[in-house]
Amino acid sequence: MGSAHPTLRKSREAGCDYSLWRWGAGTLARMNSASSLHEIPAGMVGMGMIFDETYRPFFERAQAEHVWDRRFGEVAVPLVAVATRTGSRAERYRRSAGDRIYPFHSYTGDDSIRDLVKSGVKVACVATPDNRHFDAAKQVLEAGVHLLIEKPSVLSLAELDELDRLARKHNVLAKVVYHKLLDPDHKRLRTLVADGVLSHVNNGYCSLLEPKSISGGQFAEWITGRNPGTYVAVHYIKLIDFTFGGRLISVTARGQRGLVGPADGPTWDSCQMRLVYRYDSGREAAFDIHTSWVTPDNFPGYVEQEVQFRFDNGVWNGHSRKRGIELTVEGKTPITMKTTINTHYNGAGLEPWGERTQRGYGVEVIERFFREVAMVEFGGPASERAARLAQARGLLYNDLAADRQTVAAVQALEAILADAAVGRADSVVHVNAAEGGLVLYRVGEGKPVVLHEGRV
Ligand SMILES: NC(=O)c1ccc[n+]([C@@H]2O[C@H](COP(=O)([O-])OP(=O)(O)OC[C@H]3O[C@@H](n4cnc5c(N)ncnc54)[C@H](O)[C@@H]3O)[C@@H](O)[C@H]2O)c1
Repeated sequence: MGSAHPTLRKSREAGCDYSLWRWGAGTLARMNSASSLHEIPAGMVGMGMIFDETYRPFFERAQAEHVWDRRFGEVAVPLVAVATRTGSRAERYRRSAGDRIYPFHSYTGDDSIRDLVKSGVKVACVATPDNRHFDAAKQVLEAGVHLLIEKPSVLSLAELDELDRLARKHNVLAKVVYHKLLDPDHKRLRTLVADGVLSHVNNGYCSLLEPKSISGGQFAEWITGRNPGTYVAVHYIKLIDFTFGGRLISVTARGQRGLVGPADGPTWDSCQMRLVYRYDSGREAAFDIHTSWVTPDNFPGYVEQEVQFRFDNGVWNGHSRKRGIELTVEGKTPITMKTTINTHYNGAGLEPWGERTQRGYGVEVIERFFREVAMVEFGGPASERAARLAQARGLLYNDLAADRQTVAAVQALEAILADAAVGRADSVVHVNAAEGGLVLYRVGEGKPVVLHEGRV
C-alpha cells in the first residue's frame, strides 16, 4: 500500500476498478460506493503565489486526511482540475507534489475556465489577478458550481450584483477570502468590540507595505494600470467594515507613481486612502489606509502590516510582523529568509510528533469554506438543503452579498486613481448620495459622475 493516496487506498481496500482512477465526474463516488465517503471535486483557477501559500497546503492536507465533521461525515476534496494561463506552474506543481495531490487535469489558454467548470467540479476557487476575478467567477456560477474567490472579490458593485444574482439563481455559494478576519489578533479585537469592552471607534490608521519584488517581479505580467490599494488595502477595508459595522459615507485617495511605471502613467507605487463611516449613534469615524508595493526587498519581514484604532475608551495597536520572532541566519536574512516572520498566517513546521505541516489562518480560511460547502451538501436531508444554503449565506464574514461596502470602497478608489492618472487629483466619492449609490465629485466640476445607481 505504501505511499498511495488515502482516497486511492480506500478504494483499493474496497476492491475498486482502477480503470476509473483517471478523473471524471463521479469517479470518486463510484470508487467509494462501498463506503459512506462523500466528495467535493474541486477546481482551481490561477496557481500563483496565493495558491502556493494557502490553497496548496489545504488541498494537500485534504488529500491526506479528508475533511470530517459529525454533521456531514467524511468528505474527500480532490483537486481534480486547474486552469491557468500557460500551464507551466501547474506542471511544475504536479512534479513537485507527486502523490501529495490528486492527479489533476490542467486546462490552459482562453477556454481554460470554461473547460474547468464543465469538468464536473462542484467547487471552484478563483485566484487570478485582481482585475480578472469577475469573468472567471461568472463562468463558475453560471455552471452551477460553488465559488470561492480571492480578495478583492470584484472591482465594481455591478459585478458584485451580477455574481450574487447568479449564485442565487443556481443555488450555490459565492464566497470571498479575507483571511485577516481569522487572524487571532483581529478576532480578539472584534471580540472586545462586540463585548463592549472597547466602545465607539473614532479613527484609526492601517499600513500594509509589500516588497518591490511583488510589483517588479511576481505581478509584472498584470501590474499595468493596477494599484497596491485595491490589492492590499482591501484587507483592512474589510477588517474595519466587518469589525466596527456602520455605513460607509465617503472615500478619498492620493497616490504616487514613478517606480513601477512612468510618473504620469496609470500604474501606482503607493497610495493612501481615507474612509469615513457613520454609525447608528449618529457619530462618525475616519480611517486612513496606506499601502505600497515598492518597499525595499531587504526589509525585515515579508509584509509590513500595522494598525492603530482609537476608541472612546481605549487604543488598539497591532503589528503583524512584530509579534515575537526575530531570526538571524548568516547569508540568508533578510533576503532569502525573513527576520520577522508571521507564522500565524502560514507557518511551515515540523510538528512535535514528527509530521511536516503548513498551518495558519491563511489555510484555515480555505478549509472553513469547504466545511461550509460540505455542510450545505451533506449536513442533513436533501429536502433541507435550501435552509442549510441560506444559513451558509448568512455568514457575513465571507458571503459575497455582504461584501458591498468593501467593493464600493474599492470601486471608489479605482475611480479616484483613474481620475488622478489623467491629471484630475482629489476627486471624492460619496456613498448613497442624492444623485446615486456611488457618486464621484471632481474638483471644480459641478456635475458629478454616478459610478453606481443603486444604493450600496
Ligand atoms: N489573501 C491574500 O493575502 C492574498 C495574497 C496574495 C494574492 N492574493 C490575491 O490572489 C489573486 C492572485 O494573486 P497571486 O499573488 O497568486 O498572483 P500571481 O500573479 O502569482 O498568479 C496569478 C495566477 O493566475 C493565472 N491567471 C492569470 N490570468 C488568468 C486567466 N485569465 N485565466 C486563468 N488563469 C489566469 C496565472 O497563470 C497565475 O497562475 C489576486 O487577486 C490577489 O489579490 C491574495
